[in-house]
Amino acid sequence: MLFPAIRFNARSGARFAALAALLAAVLLPGAAAAAAVAAPGAAADAKPVYSDAAALGKLMFFDASLSASGKMSCASCHSPSHAYGPPNGLAAQLGGADMRSQGTRAVPSLRYVLNRTPMWSHAQAASMSERLSETDNAPVGGFGWDGRFNRLRDQASFPLLNPDEMANKDPVAVLVKLERAPYAARFKEVFGQNIFADPARAFTQAMYAIERFELEDPSFHPYTSKFDYYLDGKLQLTAQELRGKKLFDNPSGGNCAACHIDQAGVDGSHPLFTDFNFQALGVPRNPELRANADPKYFDMGLCGPLRTDQASDTSNCGLFKSVSLRNTATRQVFFHNGRFHTLKDSLRFYVQRDTNPAKWYPKDAHGKVDKFNDLPVALRVNVDTTDEPLTRKAGERPVWSERDIDDVAAFLATLNDGYVPKPKQQ
Ligand code: HEC
Ligand code: HEC
Repeated sequence: MLFPAIRFNARSGARFAALAALLAAVLLPGAAAAAAVAAPGAAADAKPVYSDAAALGKLMFFDASLSASGKMSCASCHSPSHAYGPPNGLAAQLGGADMRSQGTRAVPSLRYVLNRTPMWSHAQAASMSERLSETDNAPVGGFGWDGRFNRLRDQASFPLLNPDEMANKDPVAVLVKLERAPYAARFKEVFGQNIFADPARAFTQAMYAIERFELEDPSFHPYTSKFDYYLDGKLQLTAQELRGKKLFDNPSGGNCAACHIDQAGVDGSHPLFTDFNFQALGVPRNPELRANADPKYFDMGLCGPLRTDQASDTSNCGLFKSVSLRNTATRQVFFHNGRFHTLKDSLRFYVQRDTNPAKWYPKDAHGKVDKFNDLPVALRVNVDTTDEPLTRKAGERPVWSERDIDDVAAFLATLNDGYVPKPKQQ
């Protein structure tokens, strides 16, 4: 019996899930950590690892009746057939009671990161010079583009109550809908017949159920990309894909792997292509976002306005969390503000931001290129100009040619799930 201990019940916490995933990865080197946890039959007498809470959370995740409009579920924005990312190219989705309100941020994919996002932390360097020289004091972790939630159960209430999304006016409004859901009886069986008499507890349990679904359901981490099969030695990448990987890795070139980690972990876990660190990349302002019609409005990530606890330190302004690049090649919208709509434009932005800023930023009233225009002028110093490839000067040659960009895009496409390996030819 390999895993007598790895069994979930309604009480086991997120930490246990992470630990179990780690354990499984250590014991089964090469096997995708979470997939191993979810695999039935790891031990002969092990039940399929899926708690009652997770089963309820799954029903809630797909239940549009939990929204004020009756038309929007978590899955409307986090579409399972789009790697739990947005099903369309909208910079931000439309929601609210009338389904006409626009959010302010692009929908991230929920694949891979849910059980591996570290807790938010920010070890402050003592001095400015230390801050500039050290790299290990960067803020890291937490859920959301600004890392403002540490637990999935805390995050889950946000879209349910956000007027631009599922638009319930308060937790009780959610519970009223939940009590009418076809699975309400099951909810009572799992959490207690009188659970709805205690709204605070009922809401906590409901959010917990969503969290269990997010942590336990294997569809959040299938590890079925061509790259995963490549890491397991089951196939070879094409010459073009390998060229793309080299360009992606090169520390004095693309340098992408510095933040979008592509090495397997010491425990054999497959890489997620993010380090969960925060950076200000200077992504251009996106006029597609209605909030941006107000020239005084800026989404500054870590320093607000959505996140409020880090605003006193202005060096946090403009920083957003690095995201996983798994399945990114299937997306139609990129970066926190959805400014780009093709992968290749996103890659061009990285390598041409500084060599040809006029291509990416509009001109100001004086005809000068308004570089880093999605931040107030005084805060533009926060934008990363020290990590390759963001160090160049206007007029210099970009580190990548168009052909290089094709190659990197081909490599990133190997991160799409659902690859079917061809039978080996002998
Ligand atoms: C209207 C679209 C929309 C709906 C509906 C929605 N989300 Fe999201 N989700 C987003 C956006 C946008 C973000 C990024 C939010 C931010 O950074 O503030 C996000 C972020 C998240 C994250 C953080 C991911 C990460 O890697 O940090 C989780 C988890 C999540 N959503 C789960 C849910 C759940 C559970 C529901 C249903 C209760 C839900 N979402 C409903 C749009 C949506
Ligand atoms: C210094 C760290 C860093 C480096 C180097 C870096 N990235 Fe990123 N990447 C980030 C962060 C942070 C974000 C999110 C930023 C935002 O939305 O404002 C991001 C976002 C992205 C996105 C958008 C994904 C999505 O789902 O919206 C793509 C694509 C991407 N990076 C590709 C690359 C490529 C290709 C390279 C190499 C040329 C690279 N990155 C280098 C930190 C980095």
